[in-house]
Amino acid sequence: MKPLIIANWKMNPQTLVEAKKLFNLVKRGTRDVDNVGVVICPPFVYLSNIQHLKSNIQVGAQNCFWEEKGAFTGEISAPMLKNLGAEYVIIGHSDRRKYFDESDEMINKKLKAALKAGLKPILCVGETEKERKNNKTNQVIRRQLVRNLRGIENWKLKIENLAIAYEPVWAIGTGNPCRVEDASRAFVFIQNVLAKIYNSKITARVRIIYGGSVNSQNAAGYIKKAKMHGLLVGGASLDPKEFVKIIKSCEV
Ligand code: PGA
Repeated sequence: MKPLIIANWKMNPQTLVEAKKLFNLVKRGTRDVDNVGVVICPPFVYLSNIQHLKSNIQVGAQNCFWEEKGAFTGEISAPMLKNLGAEYVIIGHSDRRKYFDESDEMINKKLKAALKAGLKPILCVGETEKERKNNKTNQVIRRQLVRNLRGIENWKLKIENLAIAYEPVWAIGTGNPCRVEDASRAFVFIQNVLAKIYNSKITARVRIIYGGSVNSQNAAGYIKKAKMHGLLVGGASLDPKEFVKIIKSCEV
């Protein structure tokens, strides 16, 4: 599987001019990269403009609502994103679970809506610091996967559109990345849980990636040693030089 490096810009940058500049710098820096896929997930409001700056970089959103249309003030539906040219959508990021009280059930509905609309969802799972200290990592990952994927067991045709991001909450935005060995262990555990929900043949088609304090120094380890299928990069994706370095370090 060709590694996929995904930028999660979160609620940054503050102007469209900066957003376009950042995108163009990454585009320029990755012109000669062809064995690593690159996805940028800007805030909703920049999606359309960035989508029009044609490049090899694919575009994704950071969230979507589960209904297709109607009286849901302030929400954005999966078909709307698809229609705009978005290819990917991050679902269940820990920022959303934490600040917007997104439950596993809500995430499950969003995931179904995204798959139905033909988007490629990136489902985020991972334990908090406290859960990790209490040796609950596997339990939390299993619970989130089972609940978030409930009812999609038979959607085998679309399942290769799904990516699972192992994002330990304690590693996000802290500068304290997960050790490559631990990420590798989580990778195998996620594969085993998926194999129980689906089967190993289908599971082999699901991309499993890592996110949490990824930088140009540690990125290659996750891809080349832990054999992860990609990375979800937050803070470091806002620095075009650093993000391009991350992408290049993952070339195989
Ligand atoms: P970080 O964020 O790279 O800044 O730790 C990752 C994420 O939130 O997806």
